[in-house]
Amino acid sequence: MKLLVFAGSTRLNSWNRKLAHVVADMARTSGAEVTHIELADFDVPMYNADLEARGTPPDVMKLKQLTYEHPAWIICTPEYNASYPALLKNTIDWISSPVKGDPVWNDDFRSSRGKVVGVLSASPGALGGLRSQSHLVPLLLNIHCWVAPTNYALGRAADAFDAQGQLVADAAKAKVKAVIDEVLWASQRLQR
Ligand SMILES: Cc1cc2nc3c(=O)[nH]c(=O)nc-3n(C[C@H](O)[C@H](O)[C@H](O)COP(=O)(O)O)c2cc1C
Repeated sequence: MKLLVFAGSTRLNSWNRKLAHVVADMARTSGAEVTHIELADFDVPMYNADLEARGTPPDVMKLKQLTYEHPAWIICTPEYNASYPALLKNTIDWISSPVKGDPVWNDDFRSSRGKVVGVLSASPGALGGLRSQSHLVPLLLNIHCWVAPTNYALGRAADAFDAQGQLVADAAKAKVKAVIDEVLWASQRLQR
């Protein structure tokens, strides 16, 4: 079972990047073939249709291919102003924008259609970025993803990890595992 994991932050000490590491480790332990990417490793400009008309950037094509190849994704999103960050919006907008004239990639939802997606968030605040999820989920549905009903918002993130980047609380680990289990379960069934 191939699973793509990424966080919607490029910040060095990002809680969501830490959470994505935990997700990737746990999913590997559960037997998934995990690809854990960092969005900072992709050179993706702010979306601009004039720029796109001159050619979709190579790293956008890489992200399109990567997302296409993985039937399951888990996204760890920060919360900015009760929504998700521009980094995620920009990334997903590029991924879902058709490559005009390309016989394969002119399908706007080729990368995202039928993907089972688990959504987690982390924030130093008490709500754990839960409100970001309420905006991210409709976006994912719009690009024809199947969003796992089990989600998790890690609150008080500054106290949630130990020095090795592991989650301290067993309850938090169980919640993260529940999302992973559901995503892998649903993804296996959708592929039959
Ligand atoms: C512009 C901006 C808006 C923010 N708005 C919220 C918010 O609405 N709710 C919240 O819990 N945290 C908010 N935060 C704090 C982020 O949760 C915090 O910076 C967090 O560490 C970002 O995620 P990261 O650690 O994965 O980079 C905001 C931060 C910024 C920069």
